[in-house]
Amino acid sequence: MSQKRLVSGIQPTGKMHLGNYLGAVSNWVHLQDEYESYFLVVDLHSLTTVYEDPERLRQDKLDLAIDILAAGVDPAKCALFHQSDVPEHSELHLYLSMITPLQWLMRVPTYKGKIEEIKGKDLDTYGFLGYPVLMAADILLYKAQVVPVGQDQLPHLELAREIARRFNSLYKKPVFPMIEEKLTQYPVLPGLDGRKMSKSYQNTIPVSATPDEMQKLVMSMLTDPNRKRRTDPGNPYICPVFAYHKIYNSPTRQEEVSVGCQTAEIGCVDCKKECASLLIDSLGSFRARRAELMKDTSQVSAILTKGAEKARNITTQTIREVKQQIGL
Ligand code: AMP
Ligand code: TRP
Repeated sequence: MSQKRLVSGIQPTGKMHLGNYLGAVSNWVHLQDEYESYFLVVDLHSLTTVYEDPERLRQDKLDLAIDILAAGVDPAKCALFHQSDVPEHSELHLYLSMITPLQWLMRVPTYKGKIEEIKGKDLDTYGFLGYPVLMAADILLYKAQVVPVGQDQLPHLELAREIARRFNSLYKKPVFPMIEEKLTQYPVLPGLDGRKMSKSYQNTIPVSATPDEMQKLVMSMLTDPNRKRRTDPGNPYICPVFAYHKIYNSPTRQEEVSVGCQTAEIGCVDCKKECASLLIDSLGSFRARRAELMKDTSQVSAILTKGAEKARNITTQTIREVKQQIGL
């Protein structure tokens, strides 16, 4: 039986952090066995917000590909590539932009949200408004049925469905199938300050941090603000450190940590030390694979080139069909 087709992407803006790793990439590692998978490092999407720093983009897009491979995404099981190496993404984006009403784009919640969030940058651009059209192109180009994403991406998927519906109805042919979302297991991982871990908040733990750096970052994490003294009882359920215990610690130990916090038997420093050591251990094989890949990055480039070739087997066909439908 043929496998369902799956597409997902991640932006190369800064180092991959634990939120991306747990929220997206570790999920890809499981999905690649079950689906015909296309994983994109969406460098064109990065240009919608970071367009003035070519050197940084060059570095970030390679770093991210290395992190994804180190996380266990296996090029023998899927296609991993840079979005810009498959020019059909840009081409379909253009065709879809012709039929996407401006109103649809202006009401996407992430549009206004991101403008508020990313201060000090001119985001009043054509490309930034079109971000979700480019994402729709990423998905529709592969006629993908399954798209694993975090909660924050659901409005974009909804828009991709609307664009697909409009295309199919305008050109009277069901060219694009309907898309299923696949929500990831950890919808929101907190960052060092307790807000959502995000590059824009500078509250991240990069997965490629050394054990020492990771230890320092965990020790700097915010805890229950009402627990001012060692003897004050704490509330683990509002503490970001406990959120990590819930992911990395055994159920028995989680219970002990929770009770210990609420009775002030365990102090925040010890609690964080335990958390850091769990985190560092869990990423041991990631660090080993990453070090191996760093020895010869030309092999990583070769993997990405092959991934793009595999993708183009499909994307060139879709573009042929789309051009036929729209009269080009
Ligand atoms: P981005 O960094 O916005 O390109 O996000 C890449 C992927 O990681 C998306 O699927 C996000 O939903 C997911 N993601 C980003 N930050 C977090 C977080 N703090 N917790 C869980 N998932 C996240
Ligand atoms: N917008 C997504 C994010 O920020 C990344 C993305 C781009 C994507 N194209 C995609 C995700 C296609 C899934 C499918 O997380």
